[in-house]
Amino acid sequence: MMSLLLAIALSCVFVTSQVAAEESEVVSYAGFQVWKIKPNSGEERQFILDIKDSYELELWNERRMTRDPIDFIIPPQSQTKLKSKLAERKISYVVVISDLQTAIDNQKTNINKTTSDSKAAYNMDWISYHRLNNIYAFLTYLNTTYPKLVQLINIGSSYEKRPLYVIRISNSSSPGTRPAIWIDGGIHAREWISPAVATYIIQQLVEVPANAKLLSNVDWYIMPVVNPDGYEFTHTTNRMWRKTRSVSSTSSCRGVDPNRNFGFKWGGLGASTNPCQDTYRGTKAFSEPETLATSNFIKGKSSQIKLYLTLHSYGQYALIPYGYDVVYPPDYNDLLALANNAASKFVKYTYTVGNSADLLYAASGGSDDWAKSIGIKYSYTFELPDRGTNAFTLPASEILPVCQDFFPALDVFATKVATCCGAFTTTTTKPLTTRTTRPTTTTKRTTTKCPCTCG
Ligand SMILES: *[C@@H]1O[C@H](CO)[C@@H](O)[C@H](O)[C@H]1NC(C)=O
Ligand SMILES: *[C@@H]1O[C@H](CO)[C@@H](O)[C@H](O)[C@H]1NC(C)=O
Ligand SMILES: *[C@@H]1O[C@H](CO)[C@@H](O)[C@H](O)[C@H]1NC(C)=O
Ligand SMILES: [Zn+2]
Repeated sequence: MMSLLLAIALSCVFVTSQVAAEESEVVSYAGFQVWKIKPNSGEERQFILDIKDSYELELWNERRMTRDPIDFIIPPQSQTKLKSKLAERKISYVVVISDLQTAIDNQKTNINKTTSDSKAAYNMDWISYHRLNNIYAFLTYLNTTYPKLVQLINIGSSYEKRPLYVIRISNSSSPGTRPAIWIDGGIHAREWISPAVATYIIQQLVEVPANAKLLSNVDWYIMPVVNPDGYEFTHTTNRMWRKTRSVSSTSSCRGVDPNRNFGFKWGGLGASTNPCQDTYRGTKAFSEPETLATSNFIKGKSSQIKLYLTLHSYGQYALIPYGYDVVYPPDYNDLLALANNAASKFVKYTYTVGNSADLLYAASGGSDDWAKSIGIKYSYTFELPDRGTNAFTLPASEILPVCQDFFPALDVFATKVATCCGAFTTTTTKPLTTRTTRPTTTTKRTTTKCPCTCG
């Protein structure tokens, strides 16, 4: 009982000091370490998760597969006592990042930055991480420069009134009538590699003629930064911020986990009711302007969007719904086959294709589950590199290799969507709002032979 009370007291102190620091000054991670702890049994794993709060550990793995080691960020004051606690139980661990602040500082610099092309039309590249203004200027440049190919769509505003942008890339003479692929990034603020990969995909699709075949039968909707407030906050104040930046009416802790805020099985397993937690679900489904605007836009295009892809980090996983519990969609094998095919394109970074059955803990309110629930057949979360060596502080020198390794998977997705979902013409009589059944009344086949279906 004493130790429980002590634990509560300790964690309250920690949370309060974090909050106080948060608004006024830049958060320093000097002396913080990242440990990969390797439990050998379910019992050891549970032990580690049980002591987590009393040692002020912050869990880093986003989705915990049963066979994974567990990554924790450890504040300086807990390191010695945790070390002896783990030694007592003979649980092994490795220190993967010995000083998190050093890793953060290193991530911001790139020795090649000064030599990058000064004649470039935009201040965007994939050898460094970029602030939101650079990303948005790049999108605006593309919108202006390639009006036949690109449409930049403002779908709303974030909590702090930043615009939310979706870019549509289509070479169709009547865009919006073909099957489409949706890609989003930056749902979680600290996962910097995610907007980097999303913007790389945009650049490749728009500016590289060799990729034109990816546009031949498919439209693309790409939203590189779903959570711009959080993203900016990771640049200005707290590099490890994950959530949105909305103010709570019941707590001094800010922000909601956007990936626990989507409106399918909202408030179920793996989503916190505590505004101070990183997995806080919010006061209701779609309480956040970012998730509300994003979901409304996708819903409005749900008869076209056949594949939903959301980019997160880290872990190198291709994850298939559902995540809210150990539940498989009826067409799970179709989703698995396509994910395996896409993952087979990766050379430098191999991805594990996983599913909810492999998850130790479920997570409800995720965007992938929601997309699946509104009838988008192919719905995936990709956890980009790495597997924890650099974690969120993936060095800038790895951005381009990660992007280049990832891009070929899009050909697999586009081909699937074009061949299985493309041989339909949408009639204008009955717009599809929900897609729970196969759309036989509102679409007709233009070819008699289709190797697969997307209904
Ligand atoms: C994109 O360009 C079009 C045409 O030039 C313009 O009307 C539209 O406002 C631009 N979109 C954004 C979000 O700036
Ligand atoms: C779109 O691109 C494909 C592949 O390059 C091409 O075959 C097709 O004619 C293009 N469509 C339009 C409307 O430009
Ligand atoms: C800098 O450029 C060189 C030559 O292209 C490359 O080998 C090196 O990996 C780059 N370093 C970084 C940090 O990007
Ligand atoms: Zn994430």
